[in-house]
Amino acid sequence: MAAPLNLSGKVALVTGVADDVGFAWHIAKALQAGGADVILLSHPRVCSIVERFLTRDKSIESRQLPFGVVGEFKPKALLGCDVACDTAADIAPEMKGEKGYDFDVSIEGAFARVKELVPAVDIVIHSVAFSPEIGKALPDVSRKAYLMAQSVSAYSLTALCRAAAPLMKGREGSVVGLSYMASERAVPFYGGGMSSAKASLESDSRLLSWFLGEGGHRVNIVSAGPYASRAAKSIGDIGAMIENTAQRSPLRRAIDPDDVANAVLFLCSDLSRNITGTTVYVDAGYHAMGT
Ligand SMILES: NC(=O)c1ccc[n+]([C@@H]2O[C@H](COP(=O)([O-])OP(=O)(O)OC[C@H]3O[C@@H](n4cnc5c(N)ncnc54)[C@H](O)[C@@H]3O)[C@@H](O)[C@H]2O)c1
Repeated sequence: MAAPLNLSGKVALVTGVADDVGFAWHIAKALQAGGADVILLSHPRVCSIVERFLTRDKSIESRQLPFGVVGEFKPKALLGCDVACDTAADIAPEMKGEKGYDFDVSIEGAFARVKELVPAVDIVIHSVAFSPEIGKALPDVSRKAYLMAQSVSAYSLTALCRAAAPLMKGREGSVVGLSYMASERAVPFYGGGMSSAKASLESDSRLLSWFLGEGGHRVNIVSAGPYASRAAKSIGDIGAMIENTAQRSPLRRAIDPDDVANAVLFLCSDLSRNITGTTVYVDAGYHAMGT
């Protein structure tokens, strides 16, 4: 008998795909390889870019599914969704003329389109983060930027759970968010208010696990080690960060995005059916170190 990691018949909503480098791309591919139908909810501004990764010949290799599963990554749909906006009323008037904002790309608007595509949802992946002042150390971060970091990177988990709950009814859903160890340790160069946003995200995930648990749904966090994604490159010298962490981790190596995708896949499968409200570290053990 094969291991019971089978997501056939399940629908996964994956936020945060902007290219074929970030964690979300690898997670989406792993979920499809596991048998799930994947719907991408990407930032409206990047949808046309993602469309290119999904279709152009140059990206054929990166579309190959993992685990030797034959076939290319092909989401059921790619929808624009700005997770800073709960409803159309939250979309600023100046945004409405922008690329990708020509229809309701709020969470409510995106879920209205999800409902037209599928009757139910089983998996929600929160892989989004943003601070307009990511390059600034915490003492220099403006209130506005700090609150924006909280809105996009933390509150959006709650908003997505609220939107997904009616679609997960009776399904034993799994929600997984991505975090970083700066939520609980002082990492001075992790700026822009992002450390506070990650602390909120992790705290919210524990409370959400209680509220959604009544319906049989699970909420977990994967806390990943540093990896050179587009978002991470804006933090600072990500190369040095990766090298330093790798040297000081028990396993003396860096992580790769498939490590994160594999952990997420496990957390979305029935193999983890009694794991909720927790943070799983995919960081080669770095979080366990005292030096
Ligand atoms: N790369 C790392 O070192 C690292 C480590 C630990 C945790 N993480 C977390 O992993 C997650 C994914 O990040 P990544 O490193 O793969 O980078 P990434 O740049 O690939 O992903 C960040 C995503 O957030 C999206 N986004 C930003 N604002 C948005 C908005 N208003 N609405 C919708 N989408 C929005 C971007 O379009 C992008 O797709 C983030 O939560 C990040 O904090 C990253």
